Amino acid sequence: MRDLAGKVAFITGGAGGIGLGMAEVFREAGMHLVLADMEQGALERAEVELRRRAGGDVLLLRLDVTNRDAMKEAADAVDARFGGIHVLCNNAGVNAPGPLQDLGYADWDWVLGVNLDGVVNGLVTFLPRMLARGEAGHIVNTASVGGLLGMPNLGIYCASKFAVVGLSESLKHDLAKTPIGVSVLAPGIVRSGIAQSERNRPEKFGGPPPKREEATASAFGTDPVDLGRQVLAAIEADAFYICTHAEFRHYVAQRGEALLSAFQGTPDPELESAMAPVVGPILR
Ligand SMILES: NC(=O)c1ccc[n+]([C@@H]2O[C@H](COP(=O)([O-])OP(=O)(O)OC[C@H]3O[C@@H](n4cnc5c(N)ncnc54)[C@H](O)[C@@H]3O)[C@@H](O)[C@H]2O)c1
Repeated sequence: MRDLAGKVAFITGGAGGIGLGMAEVFREAGMHLVLADMEQGALERAEVELRRRAGGDVLLLRLDVTNRDAMKEAADAVDARFGGIHVLCNNAGVNAPGPLQDLGYADWDWVLGVNLDGVVNGLVTFLPRMLARGEAGHIVNTASVGGLLGMPNLGIYCASKFAVVGLSESLKHDLAKTPIGVSVLAPGIVRSGIAQSERNRPEKFGGPPPKREEATASAFGTDPVDLGRQVLAAIEADAFYICTHAEFRHYVAQRGEALLSAFQGTPDPELESAMAPVVGPILR
């Protein structure tokens, strides 16, 4: 997708961390922005930050991505203000770390609700509207290296992010003949408030910790604005995988090699050619 100036981006989790990094870069590119986030204070701080740079209009929406009715209301509000969106960034995410044996339904329901259902809700609400508009567009789903590698103490998070990678791969195939591109973002470590995810944990899933922590960017990791630049470049180049952290490359390669070595026997040529159209072309 080219010529982003004047186009409209909708970013969930846009009030902080990676979402705000994308917003800053998109604004510099002249895009109109819709920041959708459940943290009102962070939204207001983000707006102040964004207004320091020249760029398009900014609309702030308080939104919990797990709420389907609210997602539809958000889409209606964006249609009324901008006539629709061109770039959808399903980015909001949370983490409940710990060994799986110590975690329960409240942890599963909260993390899968935000990280997976949030992406599903964004897609089901916005994609038909984007397609109906018929203009060039792009969807960026934020996964993680946790969607490429199962890691210790991150079981629920990895389950959610593997799901985001898988659905994004299918989505890329499904939209191949449409003007909508797809990318999946798989960052490693980025300076953000993800370590204080529990600040946004609703009461029905156990609520925030008694001493509620503010989001403070982690001490090390990539600057979210650098990540935003890589996302913008991927949208412009219609690149599918956005793997921002080379530190994880050899782990992913070793996992790939382990998987390849687990395949037994030689392929049946008849089955192989029957499966080719089902599998589709290899994505890049
Ligand atoms: N920071 C990293 O190192 C890293 C690495 C890989 C992937 N990610 C992913 O990047 C995405 C952004 O996270 P981040 O690191 O910027 O963290 P962050 O906590 O700084 O930002 C996440 C934003 O999502 C919002 N949010 C949380 N729950 C929400 C909900 N139910 N509805 C709407 N908004 C909600 C928060 O208010 C916050 O503004 C997440 O999907 C995360 O899993 C982060």
